[in-house]
Amino acid sequence: MKILCIGDVTSAGGVRLLSDKLWKFRRERGIDLCIVNAENAGFVTGASAEAAEQLFKAGADVLTGGNHTLRNKAVYSYIDSRPYMLRPINFTEEAPGAGYCIADMCGYRVMVINAMGNVHIDPTLDAPYGYIERALRREEGRYDLAVMDIHAEATGEKLAIAHAFDGKIKVIFGTHTHVPTADLQILPRGTGYVTDLGMCGESGGILGMNAEGVVKRMKSHLPLKFEAAAGDPVADGVIFELRSSDFAVTAMERVKIK
Ligand SMILES: [Fe+2]
Repeated sequence: MKILCIGDVTSAGGVRLLSDKLWKFRRERGIDLCIVNAENAGFVTGASAEAAEQLFKAGADVLTGGNHTLRNKAVYSYIDSRPYMLRPINFTEEAPGAGYCIADMCGYRVMVINAMGNVHIDPTLDAPYGYIERALRREEGRYDLAVMDIHAEATGEKLAIAHAFDGKIKVIFGTHTHVPTADLQILPRGTGYVTDLGMCGESGGILGMNAEGVVKRMKSHLPLKFEAAAGDPVADGVIFELRSSDFAVTAMERVKIK
């Protein structure tokens, strides 16, 4: 069984790329479940109902989120109505939406969890460990395997969370930094792991944004608006291959959809 995970969609260009290419890619590569991080798919920051609908139609089964997901109030009622669009589980019950869902993959029940780190990203947020443990316990017997998007800034925190759930969650991938990492690995208890998937948006800039504008903002400290970069859109992702008898990850492959 193959699970394709795609990094943060950063722009309308990224949404269009997936609308054009994702179903074809899924068919060619025999993908059984596709998870896309869509926290910024609305426009430069935040999620939107329109972009989420387009991504579901494009072939995403589950959309995960992060620190920007709930920036736009317009998405609140939508996320409440769409169980397969997630926001981080440690946003607590106060926030609209949910931090996990159970999706179907070839008749197997996959619990997809979306959690967020708090190191160098949001120190006011509760650490995710307890939220994840309680959710796994609460749903015991209702899922066959679990998969998690850990949306965080610090590589060490992502690895710590992955080791804490090694073996309990079969696939753990990081998002948020937009930089694809080269550390695909199988952890000691069998979890397939990568620190960051990368991004899905215009290439050639800085994390999907126009380089000149980012440098200007960095140098001036003015609240200048970011624009999408000018290069061709690219989607970074990882395919995790799992054995159906015990859901152990047997192979991982980095992919780029252009
Ligand atoms: Fe983020």
